Amino acid sequence: MDYERLKPLLFRLDPETAHHMVAGLLGCAQRFTPLFSLIPGLEEPVRDERLSQELMGLRFDNPVGLAAGFDKNGELIGAMARLGFGFTEVGTVTPRPQPGNPRPRIWRHVKEEALQNAMGFNNDGAEALGKRLKKARPYPIPVGVNIGKNKITPEEKALEDYAACIDTLADLADYLVVNISSPNTPGLRDLQNEAFIAELFAMIKEKTDKPVLLKIAPDMSEASAVTLCVKAVEVGAAGIIATNTSIDYSLVAHPVDRGGISGRPIREKSFAIFEAIAKELFGRALLVSVGGIDSGYEAYRRIKAGASLVQVYTGLIYRGPGLPTLIDRTLLHLLEKDGFSHISEAVGVDRR
Ligand code: FNR
Repeated sequence: MDYERLKPLLFRLDPETAHHMVAGLLGCAQRFTPLFSLIPGLEEPVRDERLSQELMGLRFDNPVGLAAGFDKNGELIGAMARLGFGFTEVGTVTPRPQPGNPRPRIWRHVKEEALQNAMGFNNDGAEALGKRLKKARPYPIPVGVNIGKNKITPEEKALEDYAACIDTLADLADYLVVNISSPNTPGLRDLQNEAFIAELFAMIKEKTDKPVLLKIAPDMSEASAVTLCVKAVEVGAAGIIATNTSIDYSLVAHPVDRGGISGRPIREKSFAIFEAIAKELFGRALLVSVGGIDSGYEAYRRIKAGASLVQVYTGLIYRGPGLPTLIDRTLLHLLEKDGFSHISEAVGVDRR
């Protein structure tokens, strides 16, 4: 069965229930690998030297990663490698476990190929994630750990939450991501200011040598996003992940009144912010593009604009588990067509 036949069945379920079913199946397949053959639309991962890169001292077999939020608790690292992802990002994790917002908290906008979510960092907490990561080592692909603050932590104590996550998880992370861009934790996006960023990275540099990336929202003006990201790199960020979900509800026909929108409708917004940042920071920091990527063509556009890596979440829901492999195959085709012998020749070609 291909994924297009399974999709209508999954889409009859509440989105969060569908997620748990799929995650459950992937978790079983991870323990008993013959089960992978039962997953509709799964493809053999592409292995091709032309897609492999060494970045931040890590080897990425291909540039397509799983974006944060799908595997919040680090339970599916092996499965994501089998799907063909070149890296995965677990979390967002908070110091203490928390239930997140009441359900329903994910909605589909099927016509627009979008999701809207108001999850609110439901997760098992840093310690539980740490235990799971220890068991998952050695990782089959690079693993990023995306960290945030607990809902009950007041804004003026936010720094302590990021510090606690780093203390517990830095040694287990290949790279870290500070998430100050989720719309679902009240006040979190207010941390997207230069003073906090400076304080944050000063604290982080005391604690770890691991590469730390900043993940930003798509709803700032391009100018303020650029200023913020430049500051982050000046104070020690290894790179930028752009972008998180959007709170621009005009992007879909029937928005819910809370949460952030992802998928196709944020594609251009996400690209525009990414490109503005790349114009300033390409060559000075690692750039990761995420938001509305659901094909090799869109991934290639981000790569040419300056992204060394891309990530997907919503595309996986609409295109299925074959998406990372599909993107890789298309990338190889496009590299060949443009006369590039390696992906590194295409990264940022529009910026040179
Ligand atoms: C997310 N995203 C997200 N991001 C993050 O940094 N921490 C998180 O916990 C989550 N959680 C989350 C849950 C759900 C249900 C969705 C749909 C998304 C945002 C995600 O990583 C990504 O930045 C955006 O979704 C944009 O990419 P796509 O979905 O358009 O490919």
